[in-house]
Amino acid sequence: MTTFSTTPNPNPASPQRRQEILDAPGFGQYFTDHMVQIQWRGNVEAGTGEWEQPQVLPYGPLSMDPASAVLHYGQEIFEGLKAYKHGDGSVWTFRPEKNAARINRSARRMAMPALPEELFLDSLKELVSRDKDWVPTGDGQSLYLRPFMIANEVFLGVRAAREVLFSVIASPAGNYFGEGTAVDIWLSKNWARAGHGGTGNAKCGGNYAASLIAQMEGDAHGCQQVIFTDPQRGNAIEELGGMNVFFVFDDNTLVTPELTGTILEGVTRDSIIQLAKDRGMTVQERAFTLDEWRDGVNSGRLTEVFACGTAAAISPVGRLISDTEVIGPDDARPGEITMSLRKELLDIQTGRGEDRHGWLT
Ligand code: COI
Repeated sequence: MTTFSTTPNPNPASPQRRQEILDAPGFGQYFTDHMVQIQWRGNVEAGTGEWEQPQVLPYGPLSMDPASAVLHYGQEIFEGLKAYKHGDGSVWTFRPEKNAARINRSARRMAMPALPEELFLDSLKELVSRDKDWVPTGDGQSLYLRPFMIANEVFLGVRAAREVLFSVIASPAGNYFGEGTAVDIWLSKNWARAGHGGTGNAKCGGNYAASLIAQMEGDAHGCQQVIFTDPQRGNAIEELGGMNVFFVFDDNTLVTPELTGTILEGVTRDSIIQLAKDRGMTVQERAFTLDEWRDGVNSGRLTEVFACGTAAAISPVGRLISDTEVIGPDDARPGEITMSLRKELLDIQTGRGEDRHGWLT
């Protein structure tokens, strides 16, 4: 078990202010009283380096030199996972070891140091136990944990940074989208978020920045999300800006884009595949094209579409909209399978359902 040096926040939020926030947390707007920080120094190329003494500090601004590498070359990665308060008051995270493994895959891609799994998990435990009163308990609510790693070496040469900061912050969160509403999605024809050999399957800030211009195009057309396709593979569907996507067919089949290296290997995606198999559905991870989406809707065989991610959980998709067409009904309602998978997953996470795969920590 890692030892953390601890500096308690001298000005924690008052219980009253905290309650006000927990009553209506929104997403990503409020933060708890503390954060974890661990500094690394070393040389990734040479395979040397050391993580220093882990610290729990009052939540607050980072002091950074303007020449810090991350501010210039975007050497940055992050994770997202949630902690849930159960009926007995205990607090549980969902599959955190998957995030520990993924941050190290992202680190490798972005030439950053590996973080020992134990250090990652202990950082979450330390922060959650210190700020456990910040875990909201309302329907669909949780404490969103945001681990991240940035290159904070003061150096403008382009090479793997020799100083890196790992940190975890926490934010009480409600539903990313409104409860059960079907979101319309804009089809990005002008912009890609990832390319082959690029960083699409790394959870790095640049992928999200690259999605924003398409997201703005979507906003201008009344869509809350944008979806990307791969023109090199016959317009195979990739993912939304920050979520994976699933298609439900009328013959008990669930289809989701295969992991080609250009999309994120979502933990929620992986969990849904397991839950769907458990209930006897046929799950296909394969190339799924825009033409198949259109044909499936027209023939009536494609009955439901949903997006998924840690922040979004499982969110029904309404229409796919582009400058030339609208695919999907105008009055799309959340589908039965979408909502029952959503309930099953949330029940496991919140302790109302059986954790038969041992996903809670
Ligand atoms: C998450 O789901 O945790 C993400 O990082 C995606 C972002 C849309 C919040």
